[in-house]
Amino acid sequence: MGTSNKEQVDRNKLPKHIAIIMDGNGRWAKKKGNERIFGHKNGVKAVRDTVEAAAELGISFLTLYAFSTENWNRPRTEIDALMSLLVSTLDSETKTLMDNNIRLITIGDMESLPSRVRSKMQRTTEKTSGNDGMRLVLALSYSSRWELLDAMKSLAKKIESGELTSRDLNCDLISNNLQTKDIPDPELLIRTSGEYRISNFLLWQIAYAELYFTDTLWPDFRKEDLYAAICNFQNRERRFGKISEQVIS
Ligand code: IPE
Ligand code: IPE
Ligand code: MG
Repeated sequence: MGTSNKEQVDRNKLPKHIAIIMDGNGRWAKKKGNERIFGHKNGVKAVRDTVEAAAELGISFLTLYAFSTENWNRPRTEIDALMSLLVSTLDSETKTLMDNNIRLITIGDMESLPSRVRSKMQRTTEKTSGNDGMRLVLALSYSSRWELLDAMKSLAKKIESGELTSRDLNCDLISNNLQTKDIPDPELLIRTSGEYRISNFLLWQIAYAELYFTDTLWPDFRKEDLYAAICNFQNRERRFGKISEQVIS
């Protein structure tokens, strides 16, 4: 990576929404002979750089997978350290969000977060709610199956109460009952650290996303890596089931 730069990104073909599975913090730290949490701490720099790069380019939505439902199964000490890091990062980065006109929103099961984290998140989302630049979506205690199950339950309730019938069900109705209801589907999904899987992230929403995998471990991810991913995306032909001749404009 690092061969693409900002000038090579075509500003007329930007994805509206980029989602990132930030992976590899633990391995990055281990390689350096450190504890896993050292990797998480250094991952914050990558977050800052990526958020800044995306905002500068004019990306409308950036979603970062920060903590999955399954991550609750990690050792208690790692979970506690991650939660503390989240609070301290929100403290230190709120000014950056304000300075860059970025609005923070969250998806995930906020109820499952420790109250100090939940209230910090609430305060930051409120504080940035008037910003009309990039939307930074933090996926926290998020998993796609949890989200889909929740949507199905709420639709089932509406059917039970007679507000809807099964004939009303359609794809838009499902999309509008997800956590991401006001967010367009991502066109580009990036995963770092050389893992080729989705890990329960945005399963419904990535139906037609372009997938981009890089071996770079998350703490090493920088603006150049984001530019490289976007340039790669811009060189793909998105056919949506049609044939090439139909989509060439
Ligand atoms: C990603 O890095 C951060 C979170 C999942 C919270 P990991 O902690 O998964 O790092 P690896 O994959 O073990 O290297
Ligand atoms: C996915 O990474 C979740 C986040 C990046 C928050 P994991 O490291 O938890 O994924 P698996 O367990 O290797 O699939
Ligand atoms: Mg991992």
